[in-house]
Amino acid sequence: MFEQEKALLEGYLNKFCEERSLPADKLEWRSIPFSGEWGIAAPLFPLAAADSTRTLPVPQHAQALAEALRDSLDLPVGFSRMEAVRGYLNLYYDSGHYSRKVIENVLASGSQYGCREPEGRPVMVEYSNPNTHKPLHVGHLRNVILGGSTCNILEASGQRVIRANYLGDIGLHVIKWLCNYEKYHAGEQPGEDKTRWMGDLFTEADRRFAFEEGFEAEVRAYFARWDARDPHILALWKESRDWSLEGFQQVYALLGEHFDRIYFESEVEEPGKAAVEQLIKSGLAEDGRPDLPVVINLDEILGTREEYRVVIILRSDGTSLYATKDIPLAVMKFNEYDLEKSIYVVDVRQTLHIKQFRKILELMGYPWADRIHHLAYEIVNLPGNVTMSSREGTVVLLDDLIREATRRAMDVVREKNPELEPARMQAIAEAVALGAIKYPMLSRENTKMVTFDWESALDFNGQSAPYIQYAHVRANSILRKVEGQPESAPDFDKLNHVSEVDLVELISRLPEEVQRAAKELKPNLLANYAYELAKGFNAFYNQCPVLGAEPELRAARLALVRAARWCLGNTLRLLGIRAPEVM
Ligand code: ARG
Repeated sequence: MFEQEKALLEGYLNKFCEERSLPADKLEWRSIPFSGEWGIAAPLFPLAAADSTRTLPVPQHAQALAEALRDSLDLPVGFSRMEAVRGYLNLYYDSGHYSRKVIENVLASGSQYGCREPEGRPVMVEYSNPNTHKPLHVGHLRNVILGGSTCNILEASGQRVIRANYLGDIGLHVIKWLCNYEKYHAGEQPGEDKTRWMGDLFTEADRRFAFEEGFEAEVRAYFARWDARDPHILALWKESRDWSLEGFQQVYALLGEHFDRIYFESEVEEPGKAAVEQLIKSGLAEDGRPDLPVVINLDEILGTREEYRVVIILRSDGTSLYATKDIPLAVMKFNEYDLEKSIYVVDVRQTLHIKQFRKILELMGYPWADRIHHLAYEIVNLPGNVTMSSREGTVVLLDDLIREATRRAMDVVREKNPELEPARMQAIAEAVALGAIKYPMLSRENTKMVTFDWESALDFNGQSAPYIQYAHVRANSILRKVEGQPESAPDFDKLNHVSEVDLVELISRLPEEVQRAAKELKPNLLANYAYELAKGFNAFYNQCPVLGAEPELRAARLALVRAARWCLGNTLRLLGIRAPEVM
């Protein structure tokens, strides 16, 4: 509710209660669900129940109080009518007044509309998490997109956010890569396209490992030298890891992602082994070495049945696993930052794993263990049944998908705007392409599978990024036409077409939509809102001529278009989707 109106109303109500010696704190206002008009309602049941002079049952007395209130109140400014129904006092806003308030608020906030200043203890979101020395492929896509948008939304909701990326820079895949490089590509440098080159070499290494006589043995020997910290291998490892990082960086830049903190698996391996020793000492872990691994039987400790199961925290040969490393990683995160929450954007298949290490941390006595959250997501089905085997080299690199999308978007943009200069057209096509790829990943419930297909991703008339971007473009093109022209004073009372009122309502919802999406960690809520908003704008656009309207109405409609443009632009930004000016 608007502050000014609220203060006024409260004044009236306090007086009403005072005159009847009723407690003044029993009245609470809530919004009436929008039904073409806006209103607020106060139930009078609590007040009725607290009234010592009451002779009627509570519901009847509540209705009597509602009527008394209605009769004694002068309709406050900004409201058009008032009614007493079934124990409630309902007040309906004057539509023009309400619209003016909403629109003025948006215009005053501009790019910050819907957003709060970040404050308080930070939230860390760990996402992307690729392995170095491997390709960054479409299988990684949903994670990055979901993670990035979640960060934007959390930030807009008023939380400080630390974007973290946990890279798998050790393990057999890395050793294979290094060994193959040394043997067959020594001295070679990656070209422009580092990710592809790293990925190609990985595929080659993996294939040799599977099929080439003697290669596996060489890799094992190489692994032993690595374990012994052979300086030559360490240097090559570091250098090639940087190539991977630079390659990832290129893709992140393309996607508009950045990270504040990078963690490496290599830096938590030793601390992980130390944690295992500590767990053995404390009696939580059972050490079965040399024949058996080190395990924690969580179900036995907790008295649960097949819920937490048995966690292997170190192999019998003393090598580490994901669980080994996730323990010190979590500790490191909380030690370095006083985190309000630590969110892990990780494939739904790792749900048990995350549940397990969180429980282990809790048993170790870390008070923050329950501040660990798993943002689980399902996989994406791609067109043409793309299989994801790096061994067969059938992975689709992110780069390739984006290039393909850009080519397809280019066809559409060229058709719509043949007169645009080529560089501009290319930039727009890229914005459309990235939007088309991102939107389907965001608009589905996180834990539902996404089936990606080009037709619906690029459908300018369907639930897609281009449809939403296009609404923004339309708003923009109206506003460009009036740039610099004098405008009459707007008369917001004239905004009474149903599509105008609906659009105002949609616009007014952005702040609460952001809060809800942040609270539930569900960018899909905002993605769906964006679509509703675009639909609402298009309905208005098709039914309410702006430039040809008479002056006061035209000015009010222009103000509404400006507000809609901010709202669409801000929403797209939070989804990580660019809003081109033309397309
Ligand atoms: N790199 C891991 C993988 O490829 C994902 C890491 C997830 N994060 C974590 N803290 N366990 O499966």
